[in-house]
Amino acid sequence: MGGRFLQMQLKKRLAESLSARELKALVGAYDVVGDIAIVIIPEALTAKEQTIATAILASNRKIKVVAKRAGYYGGEFRTLPLQILAGEKRKETEVKEFGVRLVVNPETVYYSVRSGNERRRIASLVAPGESVLVLFSGIAPFPLVIARHSQAGTIIGIEKNPQAHAYAVTNLSRNKYHKNIELYLGDVRDVVPTLPAMFDRVIMPLPTRGAEFLSCALQALKANGVLHFYDMQRTALYDQSLAKISDASAACGRTVLSSTITRCGHCAPNIYRICIDSRIS
Ligand SMILES: C[S@@+](CC[C@H](N)C(=O)[O-])C[C@H]1O[C@@H](n2cnc3c(N)ncnc32)[C@H](O)[C@@H]1O
Repeated sequence: MGGRFLQMQLKKRLAESLSARELKALVGAYDVVGDIAIVIIPEALTAKEQTIATAILASNRKIKVVAKRAGYYGGEFRTLPLQILAGEKRKETEVKEFGVRLVVNPETVYYSVRSGNERRRIASLVAPGESVLVLFSGIAPFPLVIARHSQAGTIIGIEKNPQAHAYAVTNLSRNKYHKNIELYLGDVRDVVPTLPAMFDRVIMPLPTRGAEFLSCALQALKANGVLHFYDMQRTALYDQSLAKISDASAACGRTVLSSTITRCGHCAPNIYRICIDSRIS
C-alpha cells in the first residue's frame, strides 16, 4: 500500500476532482513495486484515471511510473496485464527486499512485494548447512533472501516461465550472496526427478495449485524434512489444507509429524494465503 502519509497526500490532491465516495473507493488501492505504482482503477473512475495517475506521481517523488491493472492475475505463470497511465514508458524496475536487489517486470512475471515478510520468515527457519529446494521460484526472491539471511548449504530454484527465469539469472548476478544457488528453467515435474539429491526443506509458493504438485515435492524431501505448503483458504477450512498434505504423504507411505499454520496474506473477505510448515517422516 502507499502508506498512510502518502495516502493523505494523494487524498488532498484529488479532493477537488473526486467525490468523497470516489476517493474512498480509490485511496489505498495501489501497490508500489520499485518505482512503479500499480493502481486498481474501479470501473466507475475510468474517466478520471489520468487525473488519478498524475496525482499519484505528484504525491510520491519515488514513483516514476504509474500503471493500472488491466486485468487479473492469470494463466500458468500468474502474470498481470498492466497499462501505463503516467510517468516513464517502461515496466521494468528494481526492488530491494531485505538487502536483496531484484529486477522485475511485474507484467511478464509474478512477483509480490507483499510476500517479502513471508520470505524473510522462511529464511529465518533455515539452519546452517541445510539443502533447500524452492519450487516455482519466479525471479528468485526466495533463493536470494534465504542465501542472504541464512547459512544454507545448497539452494535450488525451479521456474517454468522463461522470462521469470531470465530475471532470476540476472538477479543472481546482481547480488553477492549467490554462490550456493542453482537455478533451473523448466516444469517442476520434469526437473525434480533429475535432481541428484534430496532436500532438508522444500518450499512450494504456488497457493493456487500447489496441491497438484505435492507428490512431486515429497519425492524431493528427505525423511524428517520440512515442507512449506502455500494455500488460499477460508479461516474455517484450514483443516482441508492440512488434509491435502496428510493425504499426499500417506499416498507415498509417509506421515506428517507436526504442522504449524502461518497467515501470510489476505485474498478476500475471510480467505487468507496461508503457509503450512510440516515436518514429514
Ligand atoms: C505465485 S508465483 C511465485 C513466484 C516466486 N516464488 C515469488 O515468491 O515471487 C508462482 C510461480 O510458479 C511458476 N510456475 C507455475 N507452474 C509451474 C510449474 N509447473 N513448474 C515450475 N514453475 C511453475 C509461475 O510461472 C510463477 O512464477
